[in-house]
Amino acid sequence: MEYQNVKGTHDVILKEANDYKYIVDLMSEVVSLFDYHLFHVPVIENANLFQRGVGASSDIVRKEMYTFLDKGERLISLRPEFTASIIRSFNNNKLYATMDLPIKAYYHGPVFRYERPQLGRYRQFDQFGIEILGTNSLYFDAEAIILGYTILKQFNLEDVTLKINSLGDETSRNNYRQALKDYFKDHIDNMCNDCKSRYELNPLRILDCKVKEDQEIIKNAPKIYDYLTEESKERFEHIKEILDENHIPYEVDDNLVRGLDYYSQIVFEFHYTSKKGFNYGAIGAGGHYSNLINELGGPKDMQGVGFSFGVERLYSILKDDDLLLDEQYLLDVYVASIDDNANLSAFNVSNLLRIHGLKVDSDYTFHKPGSAIKIAIRKKARYLIFIGLDEIENNVLTVKDLSNQEQIQIKYEDLINYFYDKLGFNHKHIEEEE
Ligand code: HAM
Repeated sequence: MEYQNVKGTHDVILKEANDYKYIVDLMSEVVSLFDYHLFHVPVIENANLFQRGVGASSDIVRKEMYTFLDKGERLISLRPEFTASIIRSFNNNKLYATMDLPIKAYYHGPVFRYERPQLGRYRQFDQFGIEILGTNSLYFDAEAIILGYTILKQFNLEDVTLKINSLGDETSRNNYRQALKDYFKDHIDNMCNDCKSRYELNPLRILDCKVKEDQEIIKNAPKIYDYLTEESKERFEHIKEILDENHIPYEVDDNLVRGLDYYSQIVFEFHYTSKKGFNYGAIGAGGHYSNLINELGGPKDMQGVGFSFGVERLYSILKDDDLLLDEQYLLDVYVASIDDNANLSAFNVSNLLRIHGLKVDSDYTFHKPGSAIKIAIRKKARYLIFIGLDEIENNVLTVKDLSNQEQIQIKYEDLINYFYDKLGFNHKHIEEEE
């Protein structure tokens, strides 16, 4: 019997696994420049954290959570996102009382949503994101957006579309909700079932509907900007000015409402269509939250902002656009025994090099030189070491540089210095294409 992976999941292996590591490492480097700190939070949480945090009217809580009773009858969920968990950790560890604020956290790992699998949509996928906790300063809203933009720039993605909108404060949203209810009252019977339930639960979410006929109706709906309080309007305008001053291009999209319930004030999404013409959905998204920290048990009036990128989506566009690193070399050295009596020497030399920090492979088994070369090339080794009887008798090693086919003999005791000269202490295993 062949076992299949669970629907909506996928294996990330071999070259793709290296590419994921490259993506996460580069994003980690960029957020470190902005002084963010890594948070590891559990994959499982009490279900009510997300019911409360992400919100009862969100699709995630209504139909996408993996929730189960554990053996102690606790209702547990696999996390469908990170923000609620990071805030729980901030609150549980009382970071708001013991640390300088804001706390700037970053995180990455798997999240789980029971969605219909399709292009760019999985049931288990990886997110990389940040949260800035304990500040209401609009500068940090701007920092979050600029950081997201900077990350995408570091991947050499041109033509990223940054969409922004303001959902205003609670008063703005209440007024707008009422205006939408009034507007959709006469249309809702002819709209899709999703819109009908959103009409009851959260009319703002109707604006997110992708059904063509519904979009015709949505086109003429009232715009949120007209319902923003003066203060919310000013905040939005001020952030736009900061983005302008920092040369960050953006589009205001007044239908951008986001699918999670916790947002207030600014929300944003990053979009990109790959050169192959694929649009995998938003690559990353986020926004400001005014009450979430307090709703999850933290102090009053403590606000935050954050975003998350979908690693699968980022990987797909980088792959389509040929922006992933070329794997020129995966190994520093492949060690080949070319005599049955040289297997032990191959083993010892491999480990000597590894102890000194080189990336080395060998199968410690006799091969003819021609087949050893083929193996080393398949494994993308930069150097190949041959060890046969001659080498053992003369206390030397034959080293072949596979980048130019030059071959020399080196005294055993000079081997480490030879590779330090060639590769340096901080050599890279994966080199960028010239
Ligand atoms: P989100 O928009 O639900 O926001 O997800 C963020 C990103 O995760 C999306 O832009 C997308 O790239 C990726 N993503 C979402 N669903 C899937 C899926 N089924 N398959 C593959 N990738 C997916 C959040 O999760 C918020 N916590 C973001 C945030 C942080 N807001 C404030 N702080």
